[in-house]
Amino acid sequence: MTTGTEQTKLRVGFIGIGGMGSRMASRLLAAGYPLTIYNRARERTHALEERGAQVAALPETLAAGSDVVFSSVADDAAIGSVMLGQGGALTAARPGTIFIDMSTVLPSTSRGLCAAGLERGVAFLDAPVSGTTSTAEQGQLLIFVGGEKSVYESCRPIFSILGKESFYMGPTGAGAMMKLCANTLLGVGMQALAEAVAFGLKGGLERDRLLEVIGNTAVVSRSQISKLKNVSSGAYPAEFPLRLMSKDFGLIADTATHLAATMPSTAAAQRMCAMESARQSAAGREEDFSSIIRAMERISV
Ligand SMILES: NC(=O)c1ccc[n+]([C@@H]2O[C@H](COP(=O)([O-])OP(=O)(O)OC[C@H]3O[C@@H](n4cnc5c(N)ncnc54)[C@H](OP(=O)(O)O)[C@@H]3O)[C@@H](O)[C@H]2O)c1
Repeated sequence: MTTGTEQTKLRVGFIGIGGMGSRMASRLLAAGYPLTIYNRARERTHALEERGAQVAALPETLAAGSDVVFSSVADDAAIGSVMLGQGGALTAARPGTIFIDMSTVLPSTSRGLCAAGLERGVAFLDAPVSGTTSTAEQGQLLIFVGGEKSVYESCRPIFSILGKESFYMGPTGAGAMMKLCANTLLGVGMQALAEAVAFGLKGGLERDRLLEVIGNTAVVSRSQISKLKNVSSGAYPAEFPLRLMSKDFGLIADTATHLAATMPSTAAAQRMCAMESARQSAAGREEDFSSIIRAMERISV
């Protein structure tokens, strides 16, 4: 990978123009990279196409014409499909291409993709992110990277367009593992906050006062404070959808089973999250993961 002004000549591909991918791809386009995008549902590519991005019909077409291929798709099945399925990006990659997967998936999935890449002479980094769609839009994500350190070093300039900081975590899968640690805290922390709110209400505390004072305690994080606004307004716009939190709890549980790691609080939080996620999905609703607070309130009345 080249650096400085030369870097703007790198041809960048982006697979997965969803909530996160659209915002990251938008930043790469704004930074002057020639950009090709692919999304399974074509309509999600229109806004970036109007701003000058090329749209590829298949991931393999995108990979054939890119020096660096980013991806940000929903889950392990999706990354398997866009990389190794029919017309998949890795099936057509040229030796020397760098693949950077920013999806939240199992560490073992990242290792499998890296091995498939090595067979074709391409480098692969797992680089999942911590943040939301708005932090992605502002280039303020935290990026956790696993893979060859020299490849990571060569990619730091491009990571700096997407995140406020990137952290090299170790060999392939280490970025994915770090992301699961961060989301363990995120999910269990939100469940704890939900229980505290429901508990306080049940104990007769006045709602607005309870939320205000919880927000002032040192034990509540900045991101949790921002979610207390959802509780006040009763609206939970999906910044980080509950369905993705539920998916991530599944990845954490699978990995914990594999490692024989004991995570009792996480298991309890996962059950609540899965139940509420199923309820929202049956009702055709997509809400933020903080809506678990409302779910706990309802259970507790
Ligand atoms: N949203 C957040 O705040 C956030 C924060 C940190 C990390 N993440 C992680 O970032 C990744 C992307 O999240 P997002 O919020 O952008 O999700 P999203 O808005 O639901 O977008 C999902 C993307 O994956 C694609 N996709 C899903 N299933 C597919 C399949 N079987 N084959 C091909 N493409 C498929 C979708 O294509 P279609 O448009 O065709 O469905 C879309 O491009 C996830 O792994 C998520 O856990 C999200």
